[in-house]
Amino acid sequence: MFDWPVRAFATCGKGIEPFLEQELKDAGLPEVTATSGGVAFKASQSDLYRANMCLRTAIRILVPVLEAPVHNSDELYEAVGSVDWSRYMTPDQTLAVDANVRDSGITHSQYASRRVKDAVCDQFVQKIGRRPYVNPTQPSVAFNLHLARNHAILSLDSSGASLHKRGYRVAQPPAPLSESLASALVAASKWPGNVPLVDPFCGSGTIGIEAAWRAHGVAPGLTRTFAFQGWRDYRAELFSVLRERLRRTVPHETLSLIHLSDMDESAVSLAAACIRAAGLGRRMKPIHADACHVRLPAGPPGWIITNPPFGERLGEARELRGLYKQFGERVASVGAGWNVALFTSDASLAAAFGQGIGVSSHDRVPLFHGSLPCVLWRYSLA
Ligand SMILES: C[S@@+](CC[C@H](N)C(=O)[O-])C[C@H]1O[C@@H](n2cnc3c(N)ncnc32)[C@H](O)[C@@H]1O
Repeated sequence: MFDWPVRAFATCGKGIEPFLEQELKDAGLPEVTATSGGVAFKASQSDLYRANMCLRTAIRILVPVLEAPVHNSDELYEAVGSVDWSRYMTPDQTLAVDANVRDSGITHSQYASRRVKDAVCDQFVQKIGRRPYVNPTQPSVAFNLHLARNHAILSLDSSGASLHKRGYRVAQPPAPLSESLASALVAASKWPGNVPLVDPFCGSGTIGIEAAWRAHGVAPGLTRTFAFQGWRDYRAELFSVLRERLRRTVPHETLSLIHLSDMDESAVSLAAACIRAAGLGRRMKPIHADACHVRLPAGPPGWIITNPPFGERLGEARELRGLYKQFGERVASVGAGWNVALFTSDASLAAAFGQGIGVSSHDRVPLFHGSLPCVLWRYSLA
């Protein structure tokens, strides 16, 4: 199939590239290069399996098969037809093509994906007399087409479902933070893992769960499946050996450092269920509390890492500014020596928080929440 090692590309949300780059380096993967939207690296077969199971901030890992200038759909069809697809799949397998297209002669992603699918299927019909069928939700082989400024990169997607899907989110919260973004927030906060961490607007508990896993190197993808398991050269034994090697548990001492609360009872129940599903239910118990009365644990000062409500409806902003200011005042009164990492989309809300804590110096890490530009504001209290 592939001539291993390959040059793989891990995609991520905008702004997350430096954290993903660091993760790949920490995992000992070679030739790591960050670009916009992801990080390239060199991967043997076991590196690719390991990266899929371990990476916390990546969305998917692609293995490019074809790169070509493409100005119209005929050129795309021809370029795709120049690859010998029998190397990568059989006509008995199913396929799906996910395409994203911008600033190119081809303007519709769905049309581009249909042309790729036609080129692959037509080649099988011509050579073997049989064609693979499309399965958009659970294909055996998933293709990814990236077409930007008339330059096409066609890859096999080794991940399948997005890597942010860890399997612990038992129900969808009303304002979810993606698991990979939550993990990036923990990395960007610089929480060292051995002092308390408090999230007083915990929602479904994503920040706390990702922090616990990060502190002890728990690989986030141990209970899920990956698209590479449908590839012709999949090595099931290698995969299980690697997965066993990656198993870790989070000790009680770390879990007892993480304090989660929320004012909404249903959020507290959901967080408790997600924590249990993540295998962390022994010591991490979210509680029902108002963030404006947050209690910080005794002992060494720690980190507040949190994602309060942003508010998208008109009229909410004033109310939220009051909440952020009051929360800031509470943190100022109980949080001497603590660090705060506050994630929000609205600079006026961060300013209200800053006014409340009375700390003018801060630094900011720009990140995206889906397509919404946001900032992680970092403060240190004297
Ligand atoms: C943006 S959501 C947090 C999402 C969370 N990071 C997650 O991953 O699910 C904001 C949360 O703040 C909670 N909240 C709003 N006002 C609050 C207050 N005064 N005290 C505590 N929690 C509050 C809401 O119930 C909601 O769960």
